Amino acid sequence: MRAQVGIIGAGPAGMFLAHLLHAAGIKVVVLEQRDRAYVEGRVRAGVLEQTTVQLMHRLGIGARVAREGLVHAGTTLCVDGEPFHVDFADLTDGGAVTVYGQSEVMKDLNLAADDRGIRIIYGAANVTLDGLDGDHPAVSWTKGKTMRRLACDFVVGCDGYHGVSRASIPADQLKTFERVYPFGWLGILADVPPCNHELIYANHQRGFALASMRSPTRSRCYLQCAADDRVDEWSDERFWDEFSERIGASFTARIVRGPSFEKSIAPLRSFVCETMRWGRLFLAGDAAHIVPPTGAKGMNLAAADVIVLGEAFAAWYGAGDSSGLEDYPRRALDRIWKAERFSWWLTNLTHRFPHMDVFDRHMQIAELSYLKRSRAAQTAFAENYVGLPLDF
Ligand code: FAD
Ligand code: DHB
Repeated sequence: MRAQVGIIGAGPAGMFLAHLLHAAGIKVVVLEQRDRAYVEGRVRAGVLEQTTVQLMHRLGIGARVAREGLVHAGTTLCVDGEPFHVDFADLTDGGAVTVYGQSEVMKDLNLAADDRGIRIIYGAANVTLDGLDGDHPAVSWTKGKTMRRLACDFVVGCDGYHGVSRASIPADQLKTFERVYPFGWLGILADVPPCNHELIYANHQRGFALASMRSPTRSRCYLQCAADDRVDEWSDERFWDEFSERIGASFTARIVRGPSFEKSIAPLRSFVCETMRWGRLFLAGDAAHIVPPTGAKGMNLAAADVIVLGEAFAAWYGAGDSSGLEDYPRRALDRIWKAERFSWWLTNLTHRFPHMDVFDRHMQIAELSYLKRSRAAQTAFAENYVGLPLDF
């Protein structure tokens, strides 16, 4: 088989890129190790920045997000039960985010890929990359007992943090940075109305809580938990008891409890691989960077990476101009480090760390109190939350 660009991974990064390249007349093949139902069913991101929504419209897949997405022009922060509101629209000249699940984004991307004849090979096992440091890279995989091979001009690794692409770069060529947080996020989905019309980020002395949603009748709620907690230690009753306590008295009465139909624990990590290009391999999305979920930047960063990379490939295939491909890591990393900083900052501001003493707690409360009163501080928060412009 032959393609101009071989894409590893059919998550948000891989599929946004596939559409961008297809629209530029570039032939792509996407290889995904799991099946389509798995990719579309994974409950992950829920908050889209304006740049991501605009990208969906540009690609002609924005009708449903326009109809069903919930536009949030503000959010609530809560300190030991005391809420205050941050008005994004006022602070950022009309800025807002859109609540729309990653699984819905994936369905929109995949339906349009069917219509447009974008080739996605699901169930591709044992993917290996070779020839990345020469002019003729290739990707091999097995499907059942058959071994297949794709020859291409370039390979883009969109295969997430545990993928094969970053692991294919020689260790001595990799420049990485990492911070692991000493807790996780326990998340549930339940078909009950959200306890507030917007999201609530709560700093409580017992730990962080986040009230989010997927629709007016579906709640997505998170609790900071111990890194080694197991899902089976958290009954629905225990979850709702703890959530009610942390989210604060002003919202407790509005919580409608209901059985969860999804419950999972995610570890928290900050990670950047600055080696986003090696020979003819490029990395995008979680393959190159991870943020802790606080602030909802992960999928949005994946989309921003591939906007930059898509432009670079279009310039290369359209006019033989390689400057965009050479500049991709610099341009992408500039934005990545800013999102890393914001997610790290918001995690530090809102979570309970095991080593925290009373002084550290006072620092958190003082900063949140400053954020409550200062328009300047709120503007900095709002600008980052709704998403910085592409080349900020
Ligand atoms: P992935 O989604 O990980 O996709 C990679 C794909 O590659 C997968 O389909 C995988 O099966 C495939 N793959 C892996 N290895 C191979 C291989 N060897 N061969 C072939 N295929 C392979 N982000 C936000 O922007 N907003 C949010 O609100 C938000 N909330 C989150 C909440 C939680 C609880 C979590 C866990 C994450 C959240 N994120 C959020 C982060 C977001 O989900 C990720 O950043 C996003 O999925 C990254 O997309 P990606 O395409 O780079 O990687
Ligand atoms: C969601 C996840 C986040 O990490 C966040 O900051 C806000 C919302 C969500 O899944 O809805």
